Amino acid sequence: MTYSFRMTSEWWRTAAIYQIYPRSFADANGDGMGDLAGITSRLGALQELGIDAIWLSPFYTSPQRDAGYDVADYCDVDPLFGTLADFDAMVAEAHARGIRVIVDLVPNHSSDAHEWFQAALAAAPGSTERARYLFRDGRGADGSEAPNNWESVFGGPAWTRVLEADGTPGQWYLHLFDSSQPDFDWTNEEVREEFRRILRFWLDRGVDGFRVDVAHGMIKADGLPDFTPPAEGGSMGGVSPAASGVALEPEISAEPADSAPYWGQDGVHEIYRDWRTLLDEYPDDRILAAEAWVDPLSRLANWVRPDEMHQAFNFAYLETPWNADALRRVIDDSLAAFAAVGAPSTWVLSNHDVVRHATRLSVTEANPQGHGLGPRSKGLPEYASGLRRARAATALMLALPGSVYLYQGEELGLPEVIDLPDDARQDPTWFRTAGERYGRDGCRVPLPWESAASSYGFGPTDASWLPQPAQWAALARDAQRGDPASTLSLYRDALALRRARDLGAGTLEWLPGFPESIVAFRNGGVLVIANAGASPVELPAGDVLLTSEPLDGRTLPADSTVWLAA
Ligand code: NOJ
Repeated sequence: MTYSFRMTSEWWRTAAIYQIYPRSFADANGDGMGDLAGITSRLGALQELGIDAIWLSPFYTSPQRDAGYDVADYCDVDPLFGTLADFDAMVAEAHARGIRVIVDLVPNHSSDAHEWFQAALAAAPGSTERARYLFRDGRGADGSEAPNNWESVFGGPAWTRVLEADGTPGQWYLHLFDSSQPDFDWTNEEVREEFRRILRFWLDRGVDGFRVDVAHGMIKADGLPDFTPPAEGGSMGGVSPAASGVALEPEISAEPADSAPYWGQDGVHEIYRDWRTLLDEYPDDRILAAEAWVDPLSRLANWVRPDEMHQAFNFAYLETPWNADALRRVIDDSLAAFAAVGAPSTWVLSNHDVVRHATRLSVTEANPQGHGLGPRSKGLPEYASGLRRARAATALMLALPGSVYLYQGEELGLPEVIDLPDDARQDPTWFRTAGERYGRDGCRVPLPWESAASSYGFGPTDASWLPQPAQWAALARDAQRGDPASTLSLYRDALALRRARDLGAGTLEWLPGFPESIVAFRNGGVLVIANAGASPVELPAGDVLLTSEPLDGRTLPADSTVWLAA
């Protein structure tokens, strides 16, 4: 196989990485669930978009209690998504198109259907089988109270009691997420060795890296002490509850959950050093990207020290409201924090766990991360104003130096789907909170490809595991492709310019002389001006390279971003 990658050395420092959520990207066999063959068939569209790599959320064997983040076999493909041969074909096709492939690694917990957990249930307390997970005796005279007061990220207690072999209530096991996701005990060398095997399995199949799920949670404090989190911590890992609504205070580093005995423990770092050594044995820059909800950014930088991971998701940026002050601050903090350890900053606005930014940036009420939006939610924007901000925010992000992450469908301007019927919802958050939190289904609805086709081209039938809104016909990729004013064209143009002008490798210099509500900087030969205020602003001289909204002569309207030639 001849590869035609754009960059061969340290490609990850500047890469545009596109997240594929396999359930919802493209369905080749018409069962309503996306699959690997569907991904392979649509890679041409991603090549055309101009991204450097794809990251796939889990496609491994799984009961799908948490959409595949509950893995039963780390080294196989779930029949829902295809086979290992389909995976190999997908990687080969991606590589032939110059697209690298990153897969998701879920090391904090397995599925309860994993053979190790089934063996642990069948074995006695104190056995080596139980020692791979966090089994503990309960509190109280008869052990009927959970071992500590920790709560699951998805709501409800973080412990579940098992029945012992003789049918009597017995020990408890820890699950920071759903009860079907028991946490591994990462102090156990057997667990460490197993994950080295899993890393090698996928590296040997040619993957270019791993996005590491819950990379801040694998080590728990000794003794598993009680902990009461600050009110309304972020749901994926206990950081800022900021939702980016206009009416909210800029809040990029609210009460950190750093003191939580299950997040950000120092012991995680030796695991990543070990993995880095392993990855470095392979040619061609294979990477590790941390999903670590850690505050503040200067602390997150510990995940990307030179001998640890390559990248960490910048959730502080994602959680920043559409507010010029807050944006300047988070950009400065990010560049400084990552540069201090020699790592690139990353930037991200959407993923499969948060309200899509075409909706989120105009929501006017707090919406803690992971809680989602539904018909009862307050402060919902109308679509046009959300999309306008999203386009402006994206145009700003794509001009920043470093690496950017895009989430499938944002290039179509897809909004969060708010009115999903209750009986269609599948996020464990919805069930574990008895419908109090909507959860994340609204950002996971299958993509529209062709406006006139069944399931809008998602698959060859009408089937779609979450219903697609009728309004999505107009947002389908084929409807946007030839329209220079479409969101798809904006993404493609911005990615092409970003690449041509090497903005990912550039240096940011703030431009003085603009009103407070304007974010203005120079990156190489590009001046970037984003108007997060309510009034239009006069533009300086310079040819217009890109604009998120039509300009009014030489003025930049509210909620829009322009790139000018410097
Ligand atoms: C973070 C993933 O992004 C999310 O989707 C998942 O539910 C949790 N980790 C648990 O694996």
